[in-house]
Amino acid sequence: MSALPPGSILGIVGGGQLGRMSAIAAARLGYRAHILTQEADGPAAQVAHAVTLGRYDDHDALRRFADAVDVITFEFENISADGLDLLSSIRPVHPAGRILRISQDRIAEKTFMAENDIPVAPWRGVHDRADLGTAAEELGYPFILKTTRLGYDGKGQARIHDASELDAAFDSLRPHPLVAEGMVHFACEVSVMVARNERGEITTFDVTENRHRNGILDLSLAPARISPALAAQAVDLARRIAGALGLIGLLGVEMFVDRDGSLRVNEIAPRPHNSGHWTMNACPVDQFEMHVRAVTNQPLPPAIRHSDAVMKNLIGPDDMALWPQIMAAPRLLAHHYGKAEARPGRKMGHVNVLFPHGSLPGEFGVEAALGPLATAADNAA
Ligand SMILES: Nc1ncnc2c1ncn2[C@@H]1O[C@H](COP(=O)(O)OP(=O)(O)O)[C@@H](O)[C@H]1O
Ligand SMILES: [Mg+2]
Repeated sequence: MSALPPGSILGIVGGGQLGRMSAIAAARLGYRAHILTQEADGPAAQVAHAVTLGRYDDHDALRRFADAVDVITFEFENISADGLDLLSSIRPVHPAGRILRISQDRIAEKTFMAENDIPVAPWRGVHDRADLGTAAEELGYPFILKTTRLGYDGKGQARIHDASELDAAFDSLRPHPLVAEGMVHFACEVSVMVARNERGEITTFDVTENRHRNGILDLSLAPARISPALAAQAVDLARRIAGALGLIGLLGVEMFVDRDGSLRVNEIAPRPHNSGHWTMNACPVDQFEMHVRAVTNQPLPPAIRHSDAVMKNLIGPDDMALWPQIMAAPRLLAHHYGKAEARPGRKMGHVNVLFPHGSLPGEFGVEAALGPLATAADNAA
């Protein structure tokens, strides 16, 4: 297939910030973004060429959306199997439904990893209460129990410290089945963004180090402060996963760096990823442009990083109260998602701070560079 010509319409399923930033990147390359969303004035709809309003399981809306676009991609992955089949029957869908089905379901995802010799944490499928007892015995305490579907930002999971907590966790986490995972005592968490187009060109961004707070990504540092050999292994894992999936599009691979120095893949997301937002200011071609290039079968340039970077998420009303100070801080490169209401825990925007290539500072330097947001971190702690 040749590249989709400028002027073509890129259909994006999902109306949040990832759709917004993909739509902006699409516009830069001469494409028009058409968003399927339930929010007429959401982050993506505000910057799009057109919007189809509808639920992701509304077949009539899915049909109207597909008919109106040239190629379909996602910023939101939890569309039903039926819905995916319907979209694929009308237009090319990248990444393919098969890939979304793997990433939507933690059991399918871990099974895929096992089939492809990709290391993961020890895990057990939990279909009933008896399975949970067996999993607890085999994995040992503490372990983590997760829903297989629809989890995000640490929602849909519980840490289990002893047998007295099993019943409550089993009853409260829905829907079943669940998956039990052995606790990884990680030194740090990292991720790799990998893109692949229909020509089979593949490109990976530098490994990112990620820090969470209350289950939500707080900070990303690029490059990750791990050895070059380990970084090469992380990139290799991401490339192998993209190849084994037959990926067309962009994929985020979250990994744990175990204290013994080995890598284990945590989860994959076949779309732009929060931990790749630093690329917007530190790379000539960022993850959103790479996403658009991959799904429109444009050439994929090397994912060059010209600067070191720190990304901090702006979450909820406390961070957004600092917006005037953020705008006044010359080093903070600010990205606002256009959401009207800053509810606690909601991702409202992010800032990037750049450092000359090779000069990412240590803890104190990172805090100092975050200016007004460093203070917010102290207050919240
Ligand atoms: N098996 C595990 N061992 C240790 N920490 C874990 C494990 N699974 C998840 N976590 C922690 O919880 C976070 C969120 O879990 P994850 O599976 O990535 O779900 P989500 O879909 O919410 O991102 C991870 O980034 C990590 O910090
Ligand atoms: Mg995750």
